[in-house]
Amino acid sequence: MSATVVSSSTIEDGLRQMAPEHLRAALANFLPKGATAAEQTRAIEAGLRSPAGQAMRDTMARWIVDEIVPVERLVPQAYLKWRPPVRDAMMFVVARLSPARLAPKLLEQLELPLDTSAEVRLLRLIAKVPGLQKLGQVIARNQHLRPALRNALERLENGIRDVRPEDVVAIIRRELGPRVEKYDVKVAPAILSEASVSAVVRFTWRNPENGKRERGVFKVLKPHIPEYFAEDMDYLQGLAQYFSDRQHNYGFPAKLLPDTFKKVRRLLRHEVNFAREQKTLVEAWGLYKSMRGVRIPRLIQPLCTPRITALTEERGLKVTNAAARLPVARRRKVAEQLIEALIAVPLLAAQEDAIFHGDPHAGNLLYDNRTGELTIIDWALRERLSRDQRRHLALLFLMVTLRDPVGTCNEVLALSQQHIRSASPRGRMVAEFVTHFLGELPVVRLPSGVDAMLLLERLAMKGVKFPGPLIMLSKVMFTLDGILGDIGGPDNGLGFGVTIARHVAQHWITNRKEFRSPLKTRDWVTLQCSALLYTGRLWLQCEQAILDRLLPAASTAAVSPASNHGSRI
Ligand SMILES: Nc1ncnc2c1ncn2[C@@H]1O[C@H](COP(=O)(O)OP(=O)(O)O)[C@@H](O)[C@H]1O
Ligand SMILES: [Mg+2]
Repeated sequence: MSATVVSSSTIEDGLRQMAPEHLRAALANFLPKGATAAEQTRAIEAGLRSPAGQAMRDTMARWIVDEIVPVERLVPQAYLKWRPPVRDAMMFVVARLSPARLAPKLLEQLELPLDTSAEVRLLRLIAKVPGLQKLGQVIARNQHLRPALRNALERLENGIRDVRPEDVVAIIRRELGPRVEKYDVKVAPAILSEASVSAVVRFTWRNPENGKRERGVFKVLKPHIPEYFAEDMDYLQGLAQYFSDRQHNYGFPAKLLPDTFKKVRRLLRHEVNFAREQKTLVEAWGLYKSMRGVRIPRLIQPLCTPRITALTEERGLKVTNAAARLPVARRRKVAEQLIEALIAVPLLAAQEDAIFHGDPHAGNLLYDNRTGELTIIDWALRERLSRDQRRHLALLFLMVTLRDPVGTCNEVLALSQQHIRSASPRGRMVAEFVTHFLGELPVVRLPSGVDAMLLLERLAMKGVKFPGPLIMLSKVMFTLDGILGDIGGPDNGLGFGVTIARHVAQHWITNRKEFRSPLKTRDWVTLQCSALLYTGRLWLQCEQAILDRLLPAASTAAVSPASNHGSRI
């Protein structure tokens, strides 16, 4: 059997001209007859490596996007403008994936029964391609997608099956060696959850500290990840570049597509770093240990290695599902718990550099309706903010809540990476921008931390630079805002600012020693002054709003800031 059957240049020409619907038969003809699957895969691989390889890839790519997983089927009519980038991204990856990874996929697609659904075919195509799996996941979590598409993408996410339970058990045994006996570890023979980088299984062990058998979960790095990781990072980088070079071709906001690929890269980079997540878990545990109603899984240090993380098993459902079963009053409580745990606690922590969770989508937040406890899992992505940054940020939230233009402007300037003096032209530009922004906020609701973050984002577009962790926190707040929307959160009345202020008050009063807020006495005086002026200023705006309604001027149609991040991912 010769592997060079597919390498001649006549084939190359033929391939380029071939209509995708004929490709299947042609390819099947190229393959050595009566050969084993391994031999056939090697033949395709050799073809991909041959001079005709690129033509073969291009044709295959067209076959995939036009025939077997048609983009029209994948992306509904309502998302018409997503079709071209999805198509181009798929072609891009098929054109670059290494022959050793692509060849078995092509053979598999050839051999799947003709009536196999596009969804199943897509799942097979992205199997063991963590970059694409993660991309699907990131898009699936976009709060602005319609439920039908979100569900479809979530099905995709839940359909990842790259490892078998026995493989996972084997990895655990190999990694732990004699520790399996020593701690009497018993691993459940089923996978609890599988995502792009890791699989999670339950286990029990004997804790020598108390002699008791305890429950835990292992998060296990999937075996192909170390080998495939670099390649996936490469094509994601390539995709970010590809779409940033063509950002005007697709009709999306300038940075949306490249930023999406960058986000996927960042998530992947941190998710493979198990040692870092283990350290973060310990730190997070310390940060939340005195906070009632919030749990962080405990690291089971003796059972951790660079490829497996052992944690206490926690209870609860995905927070949005859990909240859906609760009456409205309790949902409100959940919403406040979320703001308090994910924003107020890190913001007002005593440490010099406090961490915050960088990826708090609903799947990483477990809620136990019986105990009312919230568990924050999955600490792969985290960032730090210094004490000083957090102090200014906390004040910014409060100032925006109070609609105080001078206070808001001061905090914005303090947070910026440049040293902008308030008297400089740029400082004046910021001041005007802030005043205008606050004036345009709807009067019917309290402004929130999300408004503060929108303000920073808008200023960033005007060229004001803010530190990276702050940008990440703004994404966190938009994610959180989406979850609060799903839950039926604290829209009418309790914003981020108020929840934060209350958190400060409660913890400061009840627990002064442990709670050393980065806010200084001087800040409290500022706050009190703002609060005194607050009612008056709000009234003024109300009056203006009424006047505007009664005597509308052509150019004063206020735009709700929330309506402007409609296509964010
Ligand atoms: N400590 C835990 N207790 C119970 N279930 C857990 C725990 N950690 C993870 N899980 C389950 O495993 C899933 C994946 O874990 P996670 O840490 O979010 O990793 P990733 O999202 O990167 O796969 C979670 O959504 C949850 O269902
Ligand atoms: Mg997760």
